[in-house]
Amino acid sequence: MDIEEDYYTIDPLKIKRALTFRTKAIVPVYIYGQPADMDPILEIAERYNLKVIEDCAQAHGATYKGRRVGSFGNMACFSFYPTKNLGVLGDGGIVVTDNEELAKKASLLREYGWAERYVSHLTGWNTRLDEIQAAILRIKLRHLDEDNSKRVYLAEIYKRGLEETGLTLPRKREGSTHVYHLYVVRSTKRDRLLKSLRTGGAIASIHYPVPVHLQPAYKDLSCRSDLLKTERIVKEIISLPIYPELIEADAEKIMKMIKEIIE
Ligand SMILES: Cc1ncc(COP(=O)(O)O)c(C=O)c1O
Repeated sequence: MDIEEDYYTIDPLKIKRALTFRTKAIVPVYIYGQPADMDPILEIAERYNLKVIEDCAQAHGATYKGRRVGSFGNMACFSFYPTKNLGVLGDGGIVVTDNEELAKKASLLREYGWAERYVSHLTGWNTRLDEIQAAILRIKLRHLDEDNSKRVYLAEIYKRGLEETGLTLPRKREGSTHVYHLYVVRSTKRDRLLKSLRTGGAIASIHYPVPVHLQPAYKDLSCRSDLLKTERIVKEIISLPIYPELIEADAEKIMKMIKEIIE
């Protein structure tokens, strides 16, 4: 399903057209740290009896109309990969739900489908979050909002500094907060910009160079030709460095480099 041009999240207007008798759930991905437009998505889910699974992997702590992400769907998934807004020192993640039955099933699946020790009732996996990582998260969680505020502050610096450059800057949805897991701008001269920034020592990258429906593994998906916006935008995106520890002077240096490259 294609995205909203301004926010890069799933376009609710495209959902109905994509539904088939096999559709079971909608999975809004809060890409780059901004919630999708949840009101129309939840309305469609209710009308067509679909589940909603929020992908909050990039949006820990973000809000939509005053409510934290992770509290809208039947389930929500958070990644704690080290680079995420809330990350561990290895790999980790969590599934949250307010449905007891789903919670029970998820906790079975997480550990070999065990309902009791050494007895599998479902074909599960080993996806346990180990205790060391959990302990790290307990501490880091206390700093999440403060870390997100630093990201927002840096995003404002980029916005002020890059406004006149002709780059397409990230837009924040009215009524939502954005936690800037990534600060993604768009340029028709993206490849030159990326190369020169990297040569100059800046950690710029592309998230992501190949959209899901064009991944070789999914080449048979039927929606291939319907994602024209995604296919156009993917050629223009470039992620600028953003993380709580990034100092203002480095953001200024990066903006100076950008101006020299594209002007
Ligand atoms: C939007 C999004 N969804 C899902 C994932 C998968 O998370 P994990 O690597 O923790 O399984 C990621 C991680 O990169 C992500 O960015």
